[in-house]
Amino acid sequence: MKNTQIKLTARPVGEPKRSDWDISTVDVPTPNDGEVLVKTIYISLDPAMRGWMNDAKSYIRPVRIGEVMRAGTVGVVVESKSDKFKTGDFVMASLGVQQYGVSDAKSLQKVNPNLAPLQTYLSTLGMPGMTAYFGLLEVGKPQAGETVLVSGAAGAVGSVVGQVAKIKGCRVVGIAGGKDKCDYLVNELGFDAAIDYKNENVQKAIKETCPNGVDVYFDNVGGDILDAALARINMKARIVICGAISQYNNTTPVKGPSNYLSLLVNRGTMTGIVVFDYQDRYMEGAMQMGQWISEGKLKSKEHIEQGIENFPEVLMQLFNGNKMGKLILQVNDL
Ligand SMILES: NC(=O)c1ccc[n+]([C@@H]2O[C@H](COP(=O)([O-])OP(=O)(O)OC[C@H]3O[C@@H](n4cnc5c(N)ncnc54)[C@H](OP(=O)(O)O)[C@@H]3O)[C@@H](O)[C@H]2O)c1
Repeated sequence: MKNTQIKLTARPVGEPKRSDWDISTVDVPTPNDGEVLVKTIYISLDPAMRGWMNDAKSYIRPVRIGEVMRAGTVGVVVESKSDKFKTGDFVMASLGVQQYGVSDAKSLQKVNPNLAPLQTYLSTLGMPGMTAYFGLLEVGKPQAGETVLVSGAAGAVGSVVGQVAKIKGCRVVGIAGGKDKCDYLVNELGFDAAIDYKNENVQKAIKETCPNGVDVYFDNVGGDILDAALARINMKARIVICGAISQYNNTTPVKGPSNYLSLLVNRGTMTGIVVFDYQDRYMEGAMQMGQWISEGKLKSKEHIEQGIENFPEVLMQLFNGNKMGKLILQVNDL
């Protein structure tokens, strides 16, 4: 059996390109005692990957040059030398952008494909869903009747943020790129309104769609949209800094918010969230969201592309927006 791997060969300047990656095929590794060999089915593609490619201090060390690219994965156990797993078990792991990986047992978590489709464990029941759930509820602290504004709203995190805020009784407005995504937010996910930032004046549209101002702004994109949201916040508003995808491929310094004095005037707060801080509570988030999914209150959408060799181009769909929901790459048949 052979294992195709994607390794980082260069630190990108601006947008990542194919020459930043090496695609090679090696023998499938053999597990030692206590270890498990996993065939990966789905790989999670996340905006954070862009940050991991930089040689910069962050909440996690950069991926080294020559190393298999870091990625969350879901797969099936094909050989086990651990008494905790058996062949055929489905597991969530972080085995990177490759078709097979060996892991110690403690780094794997069993998942049940009868409770939810496998890909959902990389999406709403996985890291992006936990980010949305804890970021909104623990940092944003929305109250029924308040207005929640979320950017990147048709993506993995944003679509869950908006739906959870609706479940909590808030008025919800999403910001996304293009009419199709905006229609999806309102017609399929039940958002109260959506703003197409690619074709509308965002500041004017926030004023129109949030007539009572913004109590919680969940920021996935940063840049000009963060500034436009700051201009409309209410007294004691909470800004959740989750990400800033509009800035990740910049070759110039990150653009900070020039409207930050709105926080002073409105006694607002701006707080960062890192999902790993809530690791001990993932089960609580997954149980609650699993229940909402089964009750039809929460929809999980995944956009699945095929073929490990297409990883460099599929990754760019995070930045050009050419996908709806959580972006996933399938690298083996089930
Ligand atoms: N802090 C944490 O622990 C944590 C954990 C997970 C994710 N995050 C962050 O959360 C954000 C969303 O992540 P995700 O996994 O849910 O990704 P995603 O939203 O599924 O995908 C990224 C989306 O960003 C939008 N986008 C790309 N470039 C943009 C730009 N210049 N301006 C505005 N929107 C742009 C695109 O949608 P459009 O078509 O609408 O443009 C694209 O679909 C990211 O910033 C990510 O880094 C943080």
